[in-house]
Amino acid sequence: MLRFFQNFKTNGHSTDEPEHLIELRKVVKAYKTDAGDFLALKGIDLTIGAGEFVGIIGKSGSGKSTLINMLTGIDRPTSGEIYINKTGIHRFDEGQMARWRGRNQGVIFQFFQLLPTLTVIENVMLPMDFCNMYTPRQRQERAMHLLDLVDVAQQAHKLPSQISGGQQQRVAIARALANDPPMIMADEPTGNLDSRTARQVFNLFEKLVAEGKTFLMVTHDDDLARRVTRTIVIADGEIVNEWLVKALPTLSQEMLVKVTRQLQTQTFGPGEPIILQDTEPDNFYIITKGTVHVYLDRPNGREIYVEALEPGQFFGEMALLTGGTRRASVRAARENSVEVAALGREAFFELINESEETHEALQDVVAQRSQNIEQLV
Ligand code: CMP
Repeated sequence: MLRFFQNFKTNGHSTDEPEHLIELRKVVKAYKTDAGDFLALKGIDLTIGAGEFVGIIGKSGSGKSTLINMLTGIDRPTSGEIYINKTGIHRFDEGQMARWRGRNQGVIFQFFQLLPTLTVIENVMLPMDFCNMYTPRQRQERAMHLLDLVDVAQQAHKLPSQISGGQQQRVAIARALANDPPMIMADEPTGNLDSRTARQVFNLFEKLVAEGKTFLMVTHDDDLARRVTRTIVIADGEIVNEWLVKALPTLSQEMLVKVTRQLQTQTFGPGEPIILQDTEPDNFYIITKGTVHVYLDRPNGREIYVEALEPGQFFGEMALLTGGTRRASVRAARENSVEVAALGREAFFELINESEETHEALQDVVAQRSQNIEQLV
């Protein structure tokens, strides 16, 4: 019995325990409309690690603001679970949510949302007062320090209406940092700023990430979205496969959603073959986990090592595009298992028919890889 109990203790560790800083599981959000239920989020699964700088992009009405509202608890899921720091925030009532958010998250809005009747420094002290963090004297000092950090200390005793939009957003950032939260959520934080101010504010975000904060930002600004370290594209209430976005960035958002639905996950053990040279092509592959090695099989039974490919890179395009058999063999590297997203040949041809830009980008890669092979043999 004791043995059983010991085994139970070591092996009985729940696999459901959240491992990441942020985990969304099958999150659905439905709104009632006159025309029936509208699904803003259609079963989102998402994990985000500590220290990531994530941009969430998508057209208006795609569900991106709904998603960030789920993460801040401003809105609740209709079904599904949201864990942040191992805490299931979908179970919280309003009061619990507000207290938890005050200590764990800084939130930045497009329209700043400073309280108009409080001075700048009072706005920054408010979250510390609310959560009873720091002594009153420390609150004042800390607020001043944060205002200095975002370069608006000079405006500390003015009202929000007396300072510019860019300055107001800096104050909002200082307020978001008030309780030193591990993560910051921002909904279109630069949406209401001119491009120069937007860049400055963004530089500040980068600095916060470098200092260890986790940062999630909804944005429609493609330039800014490119500067984050991870981009999540949401379209029609669904998250697009991130590796697909990396591998084929020229696809339209509609195509990204369509292709995401057609992808099939396949896994291969260490050293296991994925493609054999000289065979007929079936799939196009995008690497989602691990490293693969590309080899050329020579007639004398020798192999020539060509290249290692990493997540976000693709293979299997050459035979499909040039109409012949596989030009090389591809295997999971010996050191790791590999996970790929496979796209069947019909779906692949549909894709290149729909997107001339992607077709051209793939042809460029084929030309470059062919040249590389010719140099090796
Ligand atoms: P395909 O010929 O369909 O199947 C083998 C794949 O190996 C090929 O497509 C490419 O995707 C990949 N491959 C071939 N040569 C190279 C190379 N020089 N660099 C990277 N990948 C290659």
